[in-house]
Amino acid sequence: MATNGTTAEADEFWLFGYGSLIWKPPPHFDRRIPGWVTGYVRRFWQASQDHRGTPEAPGRVVTLISRSYWEQLVDHHDSAPDKVWGVAYRIKADRVAEVKEYLDIREINGYTIHYTPFYPAPGVDPALLPQNHHHDFPFRTLVYIGTPDNEQFVGPQDPQKLAEHIYRSSGPSGLNRDYLWGLEAALGELSPESGDEHVTDLSNRVRAIAAREEKKDRGEREQQHHEQPHNFRNAGDIDEQEETEKTS
Ligand code: BEZ
Repeated sequence: MATNGTTAEADEFWLFGYGSLIWKPPPHFDRRIPGWVTGYVRRFWQASQDHRGTPEAPGRVVTLISRSYWEQLVDHHDSAPDKVWGVAYRIKADRVAEVKEYLDIREINGYTIHYTPFYPAPGVDPALLPQNHHHDFPFRTLVYIGTPDNEQFVGPQDPQKLAEHIYRSSGPSGLNRDYLWGLEAALGELSPESGDEHVTDLSNRVRAIAAREEKKDRGEREQQHHEQPHNFRNAGDIDEQEETEKTS
């Protein structure tokens, strides 16, 4: 059994996902475990030029902020869960180099590699844990973080402006709002306590914006319809008139 809980098996490679990795797994994993890390706050504070936005119009994706740094900032979302829920993946031993290369390419855009202890959720089958690990101990995972010194780091934003920004953005991986709602749904599936207020509040705001825009579009379509010249009715009127003339 590991003694201090922070050392994973040297020959096992575990990756922690707290964003899209939760529902878009990396290749070549053979185990997936829900759980959490501590000492961080998840925020939509990383600009995305390559996935959910473009260099001209970057979207917003999540990063982890060290909790001690976050506590010094003014954030409209002024509370955050102690546990950042996500998923740990074990990568098959003979595929580690390949997967690291894949992730470096996939996740680059300002993210750098860090290591953090991961706590498996209660109820995870002990057979899935790293070899010789006890359930109550965390084990080491690799995690991609966009730290405040990277160029894509945006920092605190007004939640409504952030929601409007996410609503408008899209990139090669799809709509930014689908990333947000995908994260909300994926978190909801991990555990009854894995929700994240920041994610839920933004999701609700973006749903309200989507409803507002849909209503606006519908109104515009209806107005266009009413403003169309009434050619058909006029043609009908002429037919009716001819008919009347013939029969009279
Ligand atoms: C994640 O899901 O953990 C993640 C995905 C992309 C970049 C950084 C983190």
